[in-house]
Amino acid sequence: MTNVTLNITRGDNTQGSNLVEYKIPYKQGASLLDLIFWIREHEDPSLAVRYSCKSANACKECMALINGKAGYLCSIRADDESVVTIEPLKGRPWLKDLTTAME
Ligand code: FES
Repeated sequence: MTNVTLNITRGDNTQGSNLVEYKIPYKQGASLLDLIFWIREHEDPSLAVRYSCKSANACKECMALINGKAGYLCSIRADDESVVTIEPLKGRPWLKDLTTAME
């Protein structure tokens, strides 16, 4: 079985942050948000991420830094055997994991 590796910011604004590595089974067509759901279901349900529409770029709540560039977790697909770093957006107060304060 092949994997995607996600390095995700974990922590909160009182305890500080660190990048945590997750290996997720590759599934063709899965978005980065789908892979985060997999982590929440199989490894850590406390992983915080904001989203509403899940697929249409309609709500714009899932925006994060993906390999250093802002993008939507629900619309970017992970390549097989890729390594992707996902961090919260800069410039807004950070709350927990991938979530920042809403404007
Ligand atoms: S979840 Fe709504 S734009 Fe991604």
